[in-house]
Amino acid sequence: MKKWKIALIPGDGIGPEVVSEGVKVLKMIEELDPGLSFSFTEFPWGCEYYLNNGKMMDDDGIEQLKEFDAIYLGAVGYPGVPDHISLWDLLLKIRKEFDQYVNIRPIKLLNSELTPLKNEKEIDFLVIRENSEGEYAGAGDWLFKGKPEEVVLQTGVFSRKGTERIIRYAFEEARKQKKTLTSISKANALNYSMVFWDEVFDEVGREYPDVKTSSYLVDAASLYFVLQPERFEIVVTSNLFGDILTDLGAAITGGLGLAAGANINPEREFPSMFEPIHGSAPDIAGKGLANPLAAIWSVSQMMDYFGEEEWGSAILETMKELLSNKEVLTPDLGGSATTEQIGREFIRLLRSKSPCGITE
Ligand code: NAD
Ligand code: IPM
Ligand code: MN
Repeated sequence: MKKWKIALIPGDGIGPEVVSEGVKVLKMIEELDPGLSFSFTEFPWGCEYYLNNGKMMDDDGIEQLKEFDAIYLGAVGYPGVPDHISLWDLLLKIRKEFDQYVNIRPIKLLNSELTPLKNEKEIDFLVIRENSEGEYAGAGDWLFKGKPEEVVLQTGVFSRKGTERIIRYAFEEARKQKKTLTSISKANALNYSMVFWDEVFDEVGREYPDVKTSSYLVDAASLYFVLQPERFEIVVTSNLFGDILTDLGAAITGGLGLAAGANINPEREFPSMFEPIHGSAPDIAGKGLANPLAAIWSVSQMMDYFGEEEWGSAILETMKELLSNKEVLTPDLGGSATTEQIGREFIRLLRSKSPCGITE
């Protein structure tokens, strides 16, 4: 029996609402699969915790999380706590401390009716986003605050180690999946960081002559995301570009209610973290309106990470069935079902997709 220890950080806003549905999926998997067991430990960290304790997580929070195999996170950030504090002291801290330098975000159209694009039937690519440095290095300064000569600096940090390892990871993935690899950068304007990025992409690429590559400027790539998404199979890009492009990717495949991401430490020295890519959605929080499918998709990514790919696929197949029935959908997808109703329907459908056989 394989036992996996999962840390739950439901977080803020709709985070707890969607994580609770994802946990039900994990519990159903455990029930259906005699070879798998999960333990869950929930951490109350987030903005409410900050307002009560003056910090986003326990002082030894990172130490506490180290013993887990995976972290399942909802969303962080809420009005009342500045975003740069809440996000830096919890979500970004975990990504950085655990060296989760690979952010995997599938852009996959599960049902052709979900895209707002005309004539688009198939969209299926993977964005591999650098997740540890770049524009998110947190390097900079704020000089002469409040004075007329005020200056702020936000420095992008692209180390050779950091740039090379993400690009190499993407080449390995492209080779394994026999797919093309597209690098997205911006060397025409960012005359140090992105010139360097492009050079490293060429350099590493020479070791992978079997992988067909393209390189686009991020502005043109945004255009192609919308007009010709079929150009992309595997994409590698920097932290900020990856952040922005994957919300765009979500937009063309059904919206943020369906978009998932995995923050991976490939060496498995530290836990990896699985989360929907959306935020805490204060505009719909507490109303049962949140679509839990993004959070459930990240459970599928977690299963893949655990080596349980059959369950990973079973979750995606269940999502497809639920989306094609169209009977039980949340308002973001044109339905009137609640978060919990989706969760319940999902679990009902998952039973019949179990790789362990049907158990009624
Ligand atoms: P958001 O992703 O929370 O919401 C953007 C829009 O998408 C909103 O209209 C929201 O209602 C909708 N939406 C998002 N998730 C949905 C779901 N599951 N079902 C249905 N609709 C959904 O982005 P925002 O409003 O820019 O940010 C809100 C807060 O979340 C901010 O504090 C931000 O910093 C934070 N944030 C956190 C994360 C994270 O924790 N991973 C990610 C993005 C933003
Ligand atoms: C995401 C989010 C985060 C990011 C924010 C909340 C710091 O937008 O995971 O996409 O920019 O990485
Ligand atoms: Mn984002």
